[in-house]
Amino acid sequence: MAFSWATTRRPIVALAPMAGVTDASYRQLIKKVAPETVVFTEFLSTNAISYGSERTLKMLEFDPAVERPFIVQIFGSDPQKFLEACKVIEQTGADGIDINMGCPAAKIVSSCYGSALMRNPVLAAELVAAACKAVSIPVSVKTRLGWDSRENLIPFCKALVDAGAKALSIHGRRYCDKFTGKADWEPIYALKKEVNVPVIGNGDIASAEDALRMIRNLDGVMIGRATYGNPWLMREIAEAFNECLLSRDVNGEWKVESGKWKVPGEMTSDEKFGIFRKRVPFILDHCDLSVKYKGEKRGVLEMRRHLGSYVKGFDGAKELRMKLLTLERLDEVQSALKSV
Ligand SMILES: Cc1cc2nc3c(=O)[nH]c(=O)nc-3n(C[C@H](O)[C@H](O)[C@H](O)COP(=O)(O)O)c2cc1C
Repeated sequence: MAFSWATTRRPIVALAPMAGVTDASYRQLIKKVAPETVVFTEFLSTNAISYGSERTLKMLEFDPAVERPFIVQIFGSDPQKFLEACKVIEQTGADGIDINMGCPAAKIVSSCYGSALMRNPVLAAELVAAACKAVSIPVSVKTRLGWDSRENLIPFCKALVDAGAKALSIHGRRYCDKFTGKADWEPIYALKKEVNVPVIGNGDIASAEDALRMIRNLDGVMIGRATYGNPWLMREIAEAFNECLLSRDVNGEWKVESGKWKVPGEMTSDEKFGIFRKRVPFILDHCDLSVKYKGEKRGVLEMRRHLGSYVKGFDGAKELRMKLLTLERLDEVQSALKSV
């Protein structure tokens, strides 16, 4: 059945798109641990897709048996390129297309991509319309609260919905905040009252308790950095929602029975080590997937940042981490992990 943002009964739990992180191996690992997660690709250039860049087309590869619903995130500023790129994406069998209107990186903004589109609402709506015209899969947008204020969030998003956006993910920071300060979700709750499409909140969720506290009237939550070294967080959030979210009231607020969710206490180093050992088979799977998609040299190299996040919190973690970060072959990484 075709994917629709609107028909998910439980709140959406989404893995945030993260360039250099949410590649096929990371997405598949997350789906193994938490199958209900909606996964997004890293952001991909519509220019590169439309002229057939081999490197970018490779980043569209996914495993349909594992990764659904699979959302491809794109960026750019030329409606014609959007049209062409979206057609290519639909042919891969993706379930949806998400447009990046939030990236604050200088080289993105200077080309009128990402966050810069918040300052150009007419073009932003044109891009949504072009994407919707090209494909029958749903088109969504991920954006921030605004450029340097929060005032325009509602009119900006309303215009995107009028142009055809079927869902909105909002990172509770402005462009000018980059990644500093604390995410502010209040404008996201206010936006949800004004639009009739699913709204997903994003920014600073680090635990299942955070997700239960922050969901309020929203249709879902999106988690990024807190999954580093801890993909199991996605499982915890999905379980907490299943156990503690009862129904929505007339205002769309989730009734939360938070007492049902057992907040884990502080663990000893031995307990953390015990958990790490149980997780080793998953980490080995992650390594295998990384090598499958990137080849041994690059796959092992790119695993280093993940291994650095997995191996921490117990006595001896630093030594193991230092060792893992020097290894170049898959069999060396495997035997180092299996020897603990
Ligand atoms: C390394 C990294 C790469 C990111 N790449 C993207 C991206 O490609 N597209 C996007 O929309 N957001 C991107 N983001 C922003 C995240 O999707 C998310 O909005 C942000 O990290 C806040 O959520 P969090 O506090 O749960 O991490 C990136 C963030 C990080 C840390």
